[in-house]
Amino acid sequence: MTILVTGGAGFIGSHTCVELLQAGYKVIIVDNLCNSKEEAVRRIERITGKQVVFYRDNLLNEEAVERIFSENEIDAVIHFAGLKAVGESVQKPMEYYHNNLTGTLVLCEAMRRHGVKRFVFSSSATVYGIEAAPPLKEEMPAGSATNPYGWTKVMLEQILTDIHTADPDFSVVLLRYFNPIGAHESGLLGEDPDGIPTNLLPYISQVAIGRLDHLNIYGDDYETPDGTGIRDYIHVVDLARGHLKAVEKAMKDNGVFVYNLGTGKGYSVLEVLHAFEKACGRQLPYVIGPRRAGDLPVSFADASKAKRELGFEAKYGIEKMCEDSWNFIKKNPNGL
Ligand code: NAD
Ligand code: UFG
Repeated sequence: MTILVTGGAGFIGSHTCVELLQAGYKVIIVDNLCNSKEEAVRRIERITGKQVVFYRDNLLNEEAVERIFSENEIDAVIHFAGLKAVGESVQKPMEYYHNNLTGTLVLCEAMRRHGVKRFVFSSSATVYGIEAAPPLKEEMPAGSATNPYGWTKVMLEQILTDIHTADPDFSVVLLRYFNPIGAHESGLLGEDPDGIPTNLLPYISQVAIGRLDHLNIYGDDYETPDGTGIRDYIHVVDLARGHLKAVEKAMKDNGVFVYNLGTGKGYSVLEVLHAFEKACGRQLPYVIGPRRAGDLPVSFADASKAKRELGFEAKYGIEKMCEDSWNFIKKNPNGL
């Protein structure tokens, strides 16, 4: 079985490629490296001892995408490629809509031309919007967003559902990720953002390694036990394993299937910071600041549907997530 992984050099994609290769799948990656490095592909190969076919191409390039499908027998597609920075999407909405929506349409058109009908999509818990109360369940109303990035996820869930309606043999699994963190145990793969990180874990990691001074905690006046925001952090290797289950589902059954991928358990910013301090063996400086615009107080999954229908359950806790993040930054202080 051959899986095309778009965005496979990125954080979640690279870990998923490792799991796919270890499970015996052949892997083709297409990535334009706009937010990743080719070194990630080499490291996937180093961890697994297997080779990957790598295309450095932009999904917006129809000819390049067509070539990938002509040159390979592809059984299924896992689609990670997309721009993902919430704040940047507010500044550059056209770039986000064009990259994420057009890129997906170009991909789906090539799939149609080549009769490839198995699709797994990286969606996000952000589609639940601000109204739904956690634990968030797949059947809760979704389809609102507070920024262009989130809207691309809402719109793509709809577009993929419509493609299935037009062609019921097109099977799609929509995976709504909660907060992926952690890194591969080997320390060879992990999150490697450009510039100053906007997400919590990469930020804490850079404080721990001495690249940043202190963590800014965005608000301690939420209605949570310690006042800081609560999220459902999931180890990226668990998340990657979830994609194996999802692609198996897409190959076995026809339909549109929606799953949360989270642990079902929330941790506050301070709890995460303390878990990281334990992992790196020292106290980390922080400053409490104002809330960040658009942040939810609490977000965590009801993870029972993925367990029931896919047999997927996250196995790593916050300690392991922080240990592996620390191991990665220690071994790669300047990124990949
Ligand atoms: P990432 O930026 O590390 O990976 C995305 C990859 O896609 C990058 O390697 C980038 O170079 C590539 N890419 C982007 N646009 C492309 C294009 N037009 N053509 C070819 N390649 C392109 O991000 P990630 O954290 O691994 O996220 C993967 C997916 O999961 C994204 O769709 C993201 O929106 C979604 N997601 C991520 C999170 C998170 O917190 N990390 C949460 C929910 C959903
Ligand atoms: N936080 C800080 N300081 C920081 C960074 C974050 O206090 O420097 C706090 C945030 O306020 C929040 C928590 O840490 O309470 C987690 O923040 P992240 O930025 O790491 O993650 P978010 O939950 O805000 O965002 C994530 C993904 C988005 C996705 C969103 C909703 O990064 O892509 O979940 O699903 F849209």
